[in-house]
Amino acid sequence: MIQLAIFASGAGSNAQKIIDHFRNSAAINVALIACNKPGAGVLAIAQREGIASLLIEKEAFFTGDAYVPVLKEKEIDFIVLAGFLWKVPPVLIAAYPGKIVNIHPALLPKYGGKGMYGNHVHEAVIANKEKESGITIHLVDELYDHGRTLLQATCPVTATDTASSLAQKIHLLEHYYYPRVIEQELRLQKHS
Ligand code: GRF
Repeated sequence: MIQLAIFASGAGSNAQKIIDHFRNSAAINVALIACNKPGAGVLAIAQREGIASLLIEKEAFFTGDAYVPVLKEKEIDFIVLAGFLWKVPPVLIAAYPGKIVNIHPALLPKYGGKGMYGNHVHEAVIANKEKESGITIHLVDELYDHGRTLLQATCPVTATDTASSLAQKIHLLEHYYYPRVIEQELRLQKHS
């Protein structure tokens, strides 16, 4: 059984879709939800779903062991970032090479990097009068929003779109594609 850890900072709508997708899987189990924000919606999801949760402290994460021992002790095989707003430290990337995936609510490399998250992204896309936006699902390496792209999906941006109407379209793409891309990547890695 492949054990997944989901790292999230916010509402956790992506985490919920991933949990739903693998609920009856015989091969993949969401074993842990890690969060850096006490009281975040994703922690309530963990509680309701009976999934173990881990509160991530800044010091331990960035200057300590980045919880690698805890993750290994829980036999975590693969890490899914689902709206996790901190940069993954090298010690965690080194412990999970090619095994950390992230979703970004824009078509990288544009509208990526530090500070580009949530509505900041959609506001910039609209301000630049882009005709389309979308999502990028990619493996995580040492640089923000930079690792190998696994999938990009697009949606139109219209003249009447606001950051929130665009966010809604992006969330639909995320909720559909993220669980499926995770499953596909795990299958590919299993057979590599
Ligand atoms: C999503 O828009 C995702 O693209 C970004 O953070 C947001 C997480 O939303 N990385 P949620 O917490 O999953 O609802």
